[in-house]
Amino acid sequence: MLVEKNVPLQPFNTFGIAAKAHTLVRLRSLDDVRAWIEQSRSEDHLVLGGGSNIVLTGDVKVPVLKVEIMGRALVEETPRAWIVQAGAGENWHDFVTWTLEQGFPGLENMALIPGTMGAAPVQNIGAYGVELQDRFDSLDAVDLGTGREFTLDAAQCGFGYRDSVFKHAAPGVADSAQTQGFGLAGRALILRVRLALPKAWKPVLGYADLEKKRADSGIKEPSAHQIFEWVCAVRRAKLPDPKVIGNVGSFFKNPTVSQEQCDDIIARDPKIVHYRMVDGTVKLAAGWLIDACGWKGKTIGNAGVYEKQALVLVNRGTGSSNPADCATGGEVMTLARAIQTSVYERFGIRLEPEPVVV
Ligand code: EPU
Repeated sequence: MLVEKNVPLQPFNTFGIAAKAHTLVRLRSLDDVRAWIEQSRSEDHLVLGGGSNIVLTGDVKVPVLKVEIMGRALVEETPRAWIVQAGAGENWHDFVTWTLEQGFPGLENMALIPGTMGAAPVQNIGAYGVELQDRFDSLDAVDLGTGREFTLDAAQCGFGYRDSVFKHAAPGVADSAQTQGFGLAGRALILRVRLALPKAWKPVLGYADLEKKRADSGIKEPSAHQIFEWVCAVRRAKLPDPKVIGNVGSFFKNPTVSQEQCDDIIARDPKIVHYRMVDGTVKLAAGWLIDACGWKGKTIGNAGVYEKQALVLVNRGTGSSNPADCATGGEVMTLARAIQTSVYERFGIRLEPEPVVV
């Protein structure tokens, strides 16, 4: 365990927001976590993975626990699946690449999602028709109150759309906008995650962007590796690389509305992009709603709306040596609120942020 004081967090959040951690604790093993629990007197802390889903609105006074637990392996082979495991500190995309190199398909649609393995279940990350929960086996975590290790299966993780038990407050932990109800937020630290990669693999291609790639290439039965290449190309074309332009991917969740509400909006805006769900509700493309309100390319201070995808907010000052050029968390949230207000005024829909605001 390594404890550092007054540590700049800019390199540790993909938005590139300048803020400091009063205390940063690097955790590389379960022993490190237990040593920290013994030594720390406060129950408050912030668990940080790859920093790809967080907006820092100021210096962080509670200890920041940076999870750096590494390791990846095939841990079991069943007649149906390869069970692969990764430490919570492993980079997600590197892990996807490694599984494909080993000959285990199944994660290719989720290539290039920024962040770490430990953050993947928190968000139930997903892209191009596949979500983490579709490939999930189990995970090991540690109770930050007691140091006790425990294992959860998919049902116990309570996965939903960009949601899980890890985003909801534990009993007794003060609720915030992000953490309502009962759950494990602030209580559990994920140590390692196991995924089940199916031997009877089938490509998942339904998304328009991937179908277009297939049509353009003339390949009828693409391999997992081919889909990986297509997903990387599609994402590189429309999502900014956080190393070049700070961002946290989609800033808002795609909202779900009732059929009646959707019909009402269609009557006024026939072009609205929407997807009918199996439960009868309708999911709307938040990017389209924001775009329709004219936000693409707009800025407030140094925070902006990405020109090629209105769902992504960006830090216009990334890479500048002058801290004054960089977006603050306050600017990002001012922009986010202005977007929420204009989407609400035009469509009557409340957009919910995807990242955790600290
Ligand atoms: N659209 C616009 N204008 C925009 C942006 C989008 O008209 O500025 C339209 C697009 O033309 C498209 C529709 O809105 O018809 C949906 O856009 P897109 O296909 O880009 O996907 P998305 O709904 O914006 C979601 C996920 C992404 C994931 C992609 C692909 C959420 C909040 N976002 O984006 O996830 O990569 O689908 O599966 O669910 C992330 O969570 O950080 C993320 C990037």
